Amino acid sequence: MSKVLVLNGPNLNLLGQREPEVYGATTLQDLENRLTSGAPTGMNLEFYQSNHEGEMIDRIHQLMDQPVDGIVINPGAWTHTSVAIRDALSTVTAPFVEVHISNVHAREAFRHHSYVSDIALAVIVGCGIQGYTFALETLDQHIQH
Ligand code: DQA
Repeated sequence: MSKVLVLNGPNLNLLGQREPEVYGATTLQDLENRLTSGAPTGMNLEFYQSNHEGEMIDRIHQLMDQPVDGIVINPGAWTHTSVAIRDALSTVTAPFVEVHISNVHAREAFRHHSYVSDIALAVIVGCGIQGYTFALETLDQHIQH
């Protein structure tokens, strides 16, 4: 069995309510349920969401003692602001896939830069919540090889 941690950053607890024209109508709970039931065979998922940067960093640090095989992370706005999240992700050895529900490159200029893309295994943008499924498949292939 492989173990994958799915991390969601600030405001993603409001999926389904927050700017549905940009992020869709699916709630975070629905998304997590769908991912759990459709996960690649042999993959166990754990989920964590926080609106607090330090808490997210602490959760990533826990992976040093309790490692996982891969991480899916939508860092939300921290993507564009946080050297600290980047440093935390650099500290753990598990590969991660960066996901953005919206096409950040088609939006405001401040969303075009990511502090984590260059250290990610893959980056998936603009595929809606299906991007999380693509991320799990990408990690699954990577873990198997
Ligand atoms: C987001 C894009 C970010 O720019 C934004 O701050 C979010 C969500 C996305 O999933 O499209 O919170 O990461």
